[in-house]
Amino acid sequence: MSDFVLRTLKESEPQKLFEFLASVFTHRQPDYFRQHFESDNCVDDVVVITDKNDQIVATARVFWRQLWINGQVISAGCIGDVATSSAYRQQGLASKLLNTLFQKMQIRGVGLGSLHTRSAAPLYSKFGFRQCMRPFFKFTMSTTACKTATLNASCHGVHSIDKDNLPTVASVYHEFIQHFNGAVVRDAAYWKTWVVRQFYNAEKPVNVFASSCENDSVGAYIAVRLEASGKVNIIEYCCLDSAPVDLFMRLITTAISSFTHETESITVTIPTAVLLYRSEYMQQLQPLLRDVIVRDDDPAQMYQCNDELFSVLCDNAETKHLFFDTDKF
Ligand SMILES: CC(C)(COP(=O)(O)OP(=O)(O)OC[C@H]1O[C@@H](n2cnc3c(N)ncnc32)[C@H](O)[C@@H]1OP(=O)(O)O)[C@@H](O)C(=O)NCCC(=O)NCCS
Repeated sequence: MSDFVLRTLKESEPQKLFEFLASVFTHRQPDYFRQHFESDNCVDDVVVITDKNDQIVATARVFWRQLWINGQVISAGCIGDVATSSAYRQQGLASKLLNTLFQKMQIRGVGLGSLHTRSAAPLYSKFGFRQCMRPFFKFTMSTTACKTATLNASCHGVHSIDKDNLPTVASVYHEFIQHFNGAVVRDAAYWKTWVVRQFYNAEKPVNVFASSCENDSVGAYIAVRLEASGKVNIIEYCCLDSAPVDLFMRLITTAISSFTHETESITVTIPTAVLLYRSEYMQQLQPLLRDVIVRDDDPAQMYQCNDELFSVLCDNAETKHLFFDTDKF
């Protein structure tokens, strides 16, 4: 470690950081990391290790979030952008950076860590992170049937949501999400920066539709993404408790029809907790439902916390745990 310096990122260094991250996560461009950074800009939350030429050779950062757990708001340190240059791996650099972030969390009194990982679970489990299941229902829908249903839906107040009217769905999210454990508390600034970037500027954009109730306010909304595999993932679905149950199918069929499909049927996934929340939703989708699956494009979700909190978060994950893709960091 003698040639290395562990420190926080300097104000002048973000571009260096984006280039470093893109050199490790080679499927991403530096611009992707710039967008993420600008959504949540704080150099003090980024720690780096530099070599004797002051080049970044490893990095990690914490995103401060608040999560809904048991109807209460709990602070969490969400770990992301963990990377070590391939030339310097297996020397404990990432571990040192992670320990620094855990100290920051301790100083703030934050006892909950959260992260997503595809392949580094063994590294994080050494620090007490445990995996929480993220189950999805998989079902198939006829694309022709969706198109027919959509013609009716547009007469029932289903409309597309763009950047400018995104705030109209925020209160629906806020009410719905409190019924579950693990979802991120989103304030107005977070909707404007993070959520907008995730939905509309992402490499894989998301289509968003809302449905109005009688008084013209939004009763439910859906956000869907067409994956390269041709599958459709329902990234978010939220509704008011008072929203009519038929909004659900109207939104799903409209969302699916918003993509051009070359096939007669399409595979769709939705977090199980969303569907199990209202028994009528299960009834509506029952004929189409196939399996409960763990999505193969979904990284593992891990938490670091005491046993009691872990059990609240992850026991009964099928019905109670909900963390939308939008909030991944
Ligand atoms: C995952 C990653 C960040 C790990 O970085 P790293 O600096 O090599 O991590 P560490 O050295 O702290 O720990 C890695 C391993 O080296 C071991 N190790 C730690 N200190 C060591 C030392 N002095 N000598 C030898 N091995 C050591 C650790 O025990 C750990 O063992 P494991 O492979 O069984 O988990 C790095 O492999 C990477 O950048 N991968 C690509 C990007 C990525 O996947 N990031 C994670 C996103 S969630």
